[in-house]
Amino acid sequence: MGEPLWRLRLLLQLVLAAVSVTSVLARGAGSRRRYTPDWQSLDARPLPAWFDEAKFGVFVHWGVFSVPAWGSEWFWWHWKGEALPQYQQFMSDNYPPGFSYADFGPQFSARFFNADHWADLFLAAGAKYVVLTTKHHEGFTNWPSPVSWNWNSMDVGPHRDLVDELGTAIRKRHIRYGLYHSLLEWFHPLYILDKKNNCKTQHFVSAKTMPELYDLVNRYKPDLLWSDGEWECPDSYWNSTEFLSWLYNDSPVKDEVVVNDRWGQNCSCHHGGYYNCQDKFKPQTLPDHKWEMCTSIDKLSWGYRRNMVMPNVASDVEIISELVQTVSLGGNYLLNIGPTKDGLIVPIFQERLLAVGKWLSINGEAIYASKPWRVQLEKNTTSVWYTSKESVVYAIFLHWPESGILRLETPKTTSTTQITMLGIQKDLKWSTDPSEVLLINLPQVPPSALPVPFAWTIKLTGVE
Ligand SMILES: *[C@@H]1O[C@H](CO)[C@@H](O)[C@H](O)[C@H]1NC(C)=O
Ligand SMILES: *[C@@H]1O[C@H](CO)[C@@H](O)[C@H](O)[C@H]1NC(C)=O
Ligand SMILES: *[C@@H]1O[C@H](CO)[C@@H](O)[C@H](O)[C@H]1NC(C)=O
Repeated sequence: MGEPLWRLRLLLQLVLAAVSVTSVLARGAGSRRRYTPDWQSLDARPLPAWFDEAKFGVFVHWGVFSVPAWGSEWFWWHWKGEALPQYQQFMSDNYPPGFSYADFGPQFSARFFNADHWADLFLAAGAKYVVLTTKHHEGFTNWPSPVSWNWNSMDVGPHRDLVDELGTAIRKRHIRYGLYHSLLEWFHPLYILDKKNNCKTQHFVSAKTMPELYDLVNRYKPDLLWSDGEWECPDSYWNSTEFLSWLYNDSPVKDEVVVNDRWGQNCSCHHGGYYNCQDKFKPQTLPDHKWEMCTSIDKLSWGYRRNMVMPNVASDVEIISELVQTVSLGGNYLLNIGPTKDGLIVPIFQERLLAVGKWLSINGEAIYASKPWRVQLEKNTTSVWYTSKESVVYAIFLHWPESGILRLETPKTTSTTQITMLGIQKDLKWSTDPSEVLLINLPQVPPSALPVPFAWTIKLTGVE
């Protein structure tokens, strides 16, 4: 074959390849759905897959409320909004007369904040995403917002861009980054004016909420927007559907971004991306929509508070049991800590997070990227929560049965059934009783030789 012909053929092949690539691209663009600013269209967007696979995240409440660090992150509201006597007493006992909430701002130092240290801890906790409060109801922004004059972390307090620093460290470790943002601000004069007008004017939304939401997305390209503070006005006031249609159609994160459901009165549990419903929401049966349980290690506060005592702190067993129940019922578990004003995470929170990480290092196979099984809970002598991954079924039992034999009524064995415990090498012996209940002989080892101290995972293959 002469050389020119060979070249011609190569050229022809290149042209054909280019044509087919172009047509694939064109089809892709043509089939990209455009979302319209209404719930019917927005609710139909498929949730980006990473979120369901992630299962476990860490929530961080950090702001000027971390300075008084007393009561809860609602300190300002309890003190000035509700004028609760114990908050007024706390102020008169500990601060000079005339001290205002704004005076706490300069004391929010973040002096010892090292984003890499936090990110290492969250990585060791097994978190696949981290959500930081960029702005809570107090209105202080943890980034240099151009519309939060003198009430942001660059002008006051840390003089640093906290949202950026944490995001950089989180992403270095391939953890997804979520931004919490409160729509409302308790004491913003424009918000107070709009509320006086029954949410019929939008002075606050156009001057503050929208510019900040667009700024957060364009600057930090979050994987998740965790919206809050929606409950006093309808979504038409917040312009939520207009914002979300931009987010899904044209924003720099349109393909991967995930949002929750707090976008206006009555939206929660009905509209948006995944559902939070109420704080600490814990359904008893499998919901038909992706959801997330957010909860806090300090049972009485999301922000750090100095008056926390041990009975308020969730135990390892409570936290891990809740994680297991949540994942079995199709949810994600977002566990909160509150750092101090100087940017430290106290050892009790570190310890709890590391306990989750240690448990996940053995049992993560049954958690990450798992799907709910046909049955979620079996309750008899011990609670057993099921998860699954393709044909593999995981049975997580919370307490060790005294008999050393675990009874499972749901899985039906076959000729290929194999049963192991995560973290233990050899297969477990099993049998079925006359009513086809599966009886699993748990390993007879001293407690110290068990892979984890509670909530063990049985891995079943070849069961139906
Ligand atoms: C809200 O959306 C409407 C319709 O797109 C628009 O005309 C209006 O300017 C928006 N208001 C704010 C405050 O963004
Ligand atoms: C929200 O629900 C309540 C109770 O059902 C109702 O009174 C209110 O009008 C609703 N608000 C909106 C904005 O739909
Ligand atoms: C619970 O387990 C016991 C044996 O451990 C069995 O006799 C009993 O039938 C079980 N109860 C239910 C409701 O499955």
